[in-house]
Amino acid sequence: MQVALITGCSRGIGYSTVELLASQGFKIYAGVRSVNSCENLRALAEKNQNIIIREVDLGKQDTIKKLTQEIQDKAEGIDVIINNASEIVFGPIETIYPDQFHEQFQTNLFGPILLTQELIPLMRKEKRGHIIFLGSTSGIESHGMYGAYTASKFALEAVGHSLAVNLCPWNIHVSIIELTATATQIAEKTLKMGSRLSDIDNPYLNYTKTTLEYLRKILSNGVSPEEVAKTILSVILNPSDQLRYFATERSKNTFEKVLKDPTNLKWIEEARENVNFYPDL
Ligand SMILES: NC(=O)c1ccc[n+]([C@@H]2O[C@H](COP(=O)([O-])OP(=O)(O)OC[C@H]3O[C@@H](n4cnc5c(N)ncnc54)[C@H](OP(=O)(O)O)[C@@H]3O)[C@@H](O)[C@H]2O)c1
Repeated sequence: MQVALITGCSRGIGYSTVELLASQGFKIYAGVRSVNSCENLRALAEKNQNIIIREVDLGKQDTIKKLTQEIQDKAEGIDVIINNASEIVFGPIETIYPDQFHEQFQTNLFGPILLTQELIPLMRKEKRGHIIFLGSTSGIESHGMYGAYTASKFALEAVGHSLAVNLCPWNIHVSIIELTATATQIAEKTLKMGSRLSDIDNPYLNYTKTTLEYLRKILSNGVSPEEVAKTILSVILNPSDQLRYFATERSKNTFEKVLKDPTNLKWIEEARENVNFYPDL
């Protein structure tokens, strides 16, 4: 039986991935920030004893270490880590407090790095393992309103790349699954507004509101989290040296487009022409 650890399982892609992997016979440590606010997951775990719900708050090192220690203490090892949980700090860079920037990186980068570091020795001992990160087109192109979020996703690309090089001698695969808009509640539940400028001082107010509306619209028209979970399962079942996998044609096209234009000139030209032009998350 393969053992997987997934973060951010209370809803969205994390929840759908737990559901799918459990149906395929995986044992899953399902990380949630609050064990008391994940009714759907608890109902799923009641029906399937291979789903083990544990508190993992990426902002709290002790919760990360408690779970990784529990996994280290068991004899069965760990086959797959899925670094899924994340949040969005939203707004122009000027509107974001340093503390908010730090929190963004704590959840999307530092927490996942610590969790992964703690379990690498176990994978190295077994000479097998698969570390997966949920990436985004936001890991290669930034937009005016997602500076903090995209900075964390750009950094995650670098971490994934380095880890893949570091760990290939031990047959440990590292994959980044690149998403575009997915119909989850990320814009409702985990999005926090940059609050460094008051409404009165904020020259970006309308621009922020329009972009938020646009974001909600593209998310609701996005692919389903169940579709993304299928991509994740397929990557787990077919491990390879490939670093990036694309959940949609659109995410592949975006990576190709950006890599072909290293100057980024076109993006700035488009922003000048139309401040409401934010093509994707
Ligand atoms: N949805 C998209 O369009 C999209 C596009 C590109 C990439 N992605 C990526 O896909 C992944 C999943 O996103 P999603 O759309 O499924 O988001 P979601 O529905 O908002 O779910 C996010 C999950 O992360 C958890 N979380 C947030 N902060 C946390 C923290 N500090 N510690 C532990 N858990 C925390 C949330 O738990 P709580 O219930 O406690 O809040 C929730 O379970 C993320 O990495 C995201 O960046 C999503």
